[in-house]
Amino acid sequence: MAKVEFVNVTKAYPDSARNAVQDVSFAVEQGALCILLGTSGSGKTTLLRMVNRLSDPTSGVVRVDGAPTTEQDPIALRRRIGYVIQQVGLFPHLTVEENVRVVPSILGQSASATSERVDELLRLVGLEPSEYRKRFPRQLSGGQQQRVGLARALAADPSLLLMDEPFGALDAITRGRLQEELLRIQRETGKTILFVTHDVEEAFRLGSQVVVMDQGHLMQEGSPVELLARPANAFVGQLVGSANALRQFEYLPATTAREPSVDSAAPGIAASATLLDAMLRLMQSGQPALNLDEDGRVVGQVTLAGIAQVVSAARATAATQASVAQSQASADSAIAASPAPEAV
Ligand SMILES: Nc1ncnc2c1ncn2[C@@H]1O[C@H](COP(=O)(O)OP(=O)(O)O)[C@@H](O)[C@H]1O
Ligand SMILES: [Mg+2]
Repeated sequence: MAKVEFVNVTKAYPDSARNAVQDVSFAVEQGALCILLGTSGSGKTTLLRMVNRLSDPTSGVVRVDGAPTTEQDPIALRRRIGYVIQQVGLFPHLTVEENVRVVPSILGQSASATSERVDELLRLVGLEPSEYRKRFPRQLSGGQQQRVGLARALAADPSLLLMDEPFGALDAITRGRLQEELLRIQRETGKTILFVTHDVEEAFRLGSQVVVMDQGHLMQEGSPVELLARPANAFVGQLVGSANALRQFEYLPATTAREPSVDSAAPGIAASATLLDAMLRLMQSGQPALNLDEDGRVVGQVTLAGIAQVVSAARATAATQASVAQSQASADSAIAASPAPEAV
């Protein structure tokens, strides 16, 4: 059963010329990390807020665990769903510990249990409890504040996390670290995550499933490699940079070219490394294969031949991209020019 399903979801805000979301359908499976990718105003936040009932669809249905959200009590629903936004909204007069405890105390869990739980959560998000528990938000960097926000969202142990451009305000290095932590947390906890970004690099790095939005319409849904290799239209092709498939090797994780491991003596590379890292390392070292290392476990290997296969799949598309772009351009402008239904 899919964890979250959107079925023909449309959202019309009063007094706006076009619908914020127009007839969107897709499903997010249990344990997936699904990225909503699109430029500003494409409807990503609106989609996310319909999951925890900060907003309800004008028509269509959003289901969480099989039940339509509109049949679920909003407060009860939000307790089961973690929510992290860019302006994390920590309480400035509360310590880190108190900020993280806010949610469990709302849920009525005992104080002693939450104290241990706070430490566990702080460790999970990479903050040493003894150092950070008593600090106030103003004594933290932006990245650390986002970590606390994430700990707070995880406090009630929700099976579903909604994240709306959570790392958007951070510098590139801090963002990269938090992306890696998020992947680790997801591996450790198996949570279903719906993550909004306008950044293709972030989408490819994190997403097992990427949903591309434009002007309220769902353009395409698929894995990063599927989007690169078979963009549904010129818009997606341009957004993900299909025509420059080689450049995307900086973004795609090395696991994209994962093969079952056969040589335990091969040198290792972090599974979070990019395909480009792996390719360079293979070429420099002269080794036939590198083992992919994930939290100290070998989860497969990469070879130049395997990487070449990914390259050629993406390049085959790049070759036809120009002609596809031509024929799609008229279809796209037809979509863009189609009149929005009456706002309700
Ligand atoms: N509360 C609102 N009232 C009216 N229009 C809104 C409201 N929230 C969002 N919109 C409009 O809906 C569209 C989609 O917005 P949003 O979902 O926030 O996009 P994104 O998160 O992709 O940037 C935009 O055109 C935006 O102006
Ligand atoms: Mg938004």
